[in-house]
Amino acid sequence: MKVVLVAGARPNFMKIAPIFNELKKYKHYFDTILVHTGQHYDYNMSGSFFRDLELSKPDIFLGIGSGTQAVQTAKIMVEFERVCLKNKPDLVIVVGDVNSTLACSLTAAKLCIPIAHVEAGLRSFDRTMPEEVNRVITDHVSDLFFTTCEDANNNLKREGVSNKKIFFVGNVMIDTLEKLKVKSEESLVLEKIGVRKNGYVVLTLHRPSNVDDKKTLRNMFEAFRDLGKHIPLVFPVHPRTLKQINRFGINFDSKSIKLMEPLGYLDFMKLYMDSKFVLTDSGGIQEETTYLGIPCLTLRSNTERPITVSEGTNTLVGNNRNKILRESLRILKGKYKIGKKPKLWDGRTAQRIVKILIKKFRRD
Ligand code: UD1
Repeated sequence: MKVVLVAGARPNFMKIAPIFNELKKYKHYFDTILVHTGQHYDYNMSGSFFRDLELSKPDIFLGIGSGTQAVQTAKIMVEFERVCLKNKPDLVIVVGDVNSTLACSLTAAKLCIPIAHVEAGLRSFDRTMPEEVNRVITDHVSDLFFTTCEDANNNLKREGVSNKKIFFVGNVMIDTLEKLKVKSEESLVLEKIGVRKNGYVVLTLHRPSNVDDKKTLRNMFEAFRDLGKHIPLVFPVHPRTLKQINRFGINFDSKSIKLMEPLGYLDFMKLYMDSKFVLTDSGGIQEETTYLGIPCLTLRSNTERPITVSEGTNTLVGNNRNKILRESLRILKGKYKIGKKPKLWDGRTAQRIVKILIKKFRRD
């Protein structure tokens, strides 16, 4: 079975790595081709992850780069179609919800190539998010659905997906976290930044709804400034956000809000593992903090990962200044959710996915 695996943006790499490495163990069944679309291209958004995750270099690099939603998606489709026509894969594996996920699944579907979507069925029910559109369309053209939680299964069934095609396998990102947790302890990132264990908050921010509007971003920074009077914030900043901070002329004290370039996987894991709590609008970080039992305040009013709220350590605080500050101070006073690890988030998801693919391979 010739399998093309697609990765393109930062949150894809930690999901693709364990599946790719597991497939490689079954060389007599699978011929793998790793495609990197180039949606993310800076070393610290892409290259450093291949190094940290011990993921071999992509077999094919499409070099797409940035663009509007349509330009980026269209360019990936054109290039990925060439890859598919030349290599004639039997299966395309896509992960997550970024533009590369949508573009490659749409391309494969039109060429009648079966698609497996890993992390299928997540829904925020907020179509203003580009990722929500990507999730819905990807699922509607996929053939195999690997899910992280029961609510994803229910979303898929409600949208008409046959139960036979849905496989609840757990969270593949946790495989990577488990594999590299011990190694991340060696990171000297705290010393480099000049913070002590439990003596800081980690902040990440990149959603267009938070960073592309001047008033919203300014308002959020008011909360970060207020919080910074109690505890320093460490802020590895996404390139999109940095541009907007500069464009809107947002000022802050660099001692209480420590801005820095995006970090690699191991340094970032060490950073959030040793933090007091995390403020974020990322999807993956909501899951990683839930798994590790670290309090997380999500700077969004909805989440496609409700299990992190119902079972985990996550609380939605939106982008309202007062709410962000109030909930942050509660955590500093020791009042936060303890949570538990969701079912099948155990470091063995890639094994389960590959077993299912082998079964399918034998049957077909
Ligand atoms: C993308 C994903 C988002 C994911 C995020 C993680 C989509 C629709 N969005 O958002 O779901 O949470 O990645 O980071 O796919 N840029 C650089 N260097 C890079 C990459 C991007 O400077 O290596 C800058 C460019 O100015 C670019 C902007 O960041 O225009 C946004 O990049 P893009 O890939 O369009 O979306 P993200 O905001 O990164």
